[in-house]
Amino acid sequence: MKEPFAMTSKAPFVAALALLAGLAPRPGLAEGSVRQVTDPVAKEECSACHMAYQPAFLPAESWKKIFADLSNHFGEDASLDPKTEARIRNYYLRHAARWRSIPKPVPIRITELPWFTREHTRFAARAKQDPKIGSLSNCTACHRYAERGWFEND
Ligand code: HEC
Ligand code: HEC
Repeated sequence: MKEPFAMTSKAPFVAALALLAGLAPRPGLAEGSVRQVTDPVAKEECSACHMAYQPAFLPAESWKKIFADLSNHFGEDASLDPKTEARIRNYYLRHAARWRSIPKPVPIRITELPWFTREHTRFAARAKQDPKIGSLSNCTACHRYAERGWFEND
């Protein structure tokens, strides 16, 4: 028998999402989306350990700092051969966010930006406790279409 009016059960998590939607201005982001990584080499190399973060999340100053020492990258060795590194670095700099002012110290984490913290405070503890998530840096654990640059949950 068909049940055309069956209720879909919405988790409390989803209710929390609705509450948070549209809270704060997000530099470099329009309507919860950001340009996806289009350079195949950047996409390949920078997604070995986490998803390839989109360059528009951070300004050029941040990417310069990140690319200044990939051999000591958040406790990992993410170094590349010089040619590949130059190509990816250029790609990130070209597509970086353009902020009117750059905070000091220059941020190297998306997850420590004020808009990010505001949007995610409620989920920080959950992210750490859940072994399937691990940390808020693991965007794809919660945002199914993160790699395509789409962060507006439904
Ligand atoms: C533990 C789950 C979780 C993780 C991990 C997570 N997010 Fe989110 N994020 C959320 C929730 C929940 C919201 C608020 C609901 C919404 O607006 O869709 C949100 C909101 C956002 C928004 C605002 C979307 C809008 O409404 O316009 C952006 C952008 C975003 N996250 C980016 C990221 C990025 C980038 C990462 C990884 C660095 C990340 N998130 C990691 C759960 C998560
Ligand atoms: C060898 C593994 C590895 C590779 C390859 C790698 N990263 Fe990372 N990256 C990490 C780890 C580990 C973290 C910290 C994640 C955490 O705190 O949970 C990180 C974090 C980051 C962050 C900060 C995320 C946040 O919390 O906001 C950025 C930005 C970043 N990486 C960019 C890059 C770029 C660009 C490349 C390609 C040049 C790259 N990564 C390649 C391991 C890697």
